[in-house]
Amino acid sequence: MTHFLAIETSCDETAAAVFTDELQVLSSVVASQSDLHARFGGVVPEIASRAHLRNLLPVIDEALSRAQLNLKDIGCVAVHNTPGLVGALLVGVSAAKALALALDVPLVAVNHIASHIFACRLAAGRDIFPCVGLVVSGGHTALFSCDTALSMTLLGGTRDDAAGEAFDKVAAILGLGFPGGPAVEREAATGDPKAFDFPRSFIDDGRLEFSFSGLKTAVLYACHGQDVSKATPPPAGKKRADLAASFQSAVVDVLVMKCKQALRKTGLKRLAVGGGVSANKPLRFALEVMCAKEGAELFIPPLALCTDNAAMAALAVEKWKRGEFAPPDLDAEPNWL
Ligand code: KG4
Ligand code: ZN
Repeated sequence: MTHFLAIETSCDETAAAVFTDELQVLSSVVASQSDLHARFGGVVPEIASRAHLRNLLPVIDEALSRAQLNLKDIGCVAVHNTPGLVGALLVGVSAAKALALALDVPLVAVNHIASHIFACRLAAGRDIFPCVGLVVSGGHTALFSCDTALSMTLLGGTRDDAAGEAFDKVAAILGLGFPGGPAVEREAATGDPKAFDFPRSFIDDGRLEFSFSGLKTAVLYACHGQDVSKATPPPAGKKRADLAASFQSAVVDVLVMKCKQALRKTGLKRLAVGGGVSANKPLRFALEVMCAKEGAELFIPPLALCTDNAAMAALAVEKWKRGEFAPPDLDAEPNWL
């Protein structure tokens, strides 16, 4: 049996995991940097890189110790090298290259977006391909037709903001803090999703693309009026809960409708959803209802596998089986789509 050590440092989570070539996850450790970025209302790239430098080796040690293994037991090193913040990715990529070289084992480079879909395969414990894949994270919102774990064709992405980015920005507008997704979801729980009629971009339009920046601006105007130079304090009480609920409902409607259109367009009967926003409970529920109506099977991982982690890099096993190893001069690639 081969043991893999995987590293994730693409944004603001420093993560390491140990798994086997049979996709058994022995440990998955995530050190969140949320507290460091909270006062800035978003991820500060330089702070993220420096925190990865501080946290990565202890996180790797913890992953090995929870798996009850030593470095000498590792037969392959995997790393997310794209997409993400370049300085943040570079920390993980450099550590992975050094480890693979020192241990004299293969290095496998994995795409973070493909890994978010693979998290569904990992959680399901069985094959999920071919399927429609939706990745909804802080940096990406995109639909794919996935023939296999390693062959994904883009059906459509966002024209502007990603869904998670919209959650984070709306949380800032509403004074709910960072990270925004969970805060907006909590606030929305007591609000009326019909209180504000926010736009649902491209919803009746056949193209499988997304746009969330108009929705974000609509929330801003609903809070402060159109002259935002006249700063007013963020709304409170019922208005804030109603704004959060109406915003969340608009995002959920669009994501669910586009998944439905993608299933119909491709004729596929499986939907795999990954990325931080897929932790959102109203979205999960609405996707379940839609898939049941469409006769499609929904794959959506447990919360810990939705947000950034290194266990989902078990996609590396597929590449390792094919002998697709990364060269020793592997680079961090910030852009992918
Ligand atoms: O996949 P992820 O952990 O990191 C990236 O690759 O970007 O996604 C992070 C994003 C953030 O924008 C965060 O606000 C959002 O996922 N998020 C949520 C929830 N939990 C995290 N959005 C909505 N509802 C949630 N419960
Ligand atoms: Zn991610």
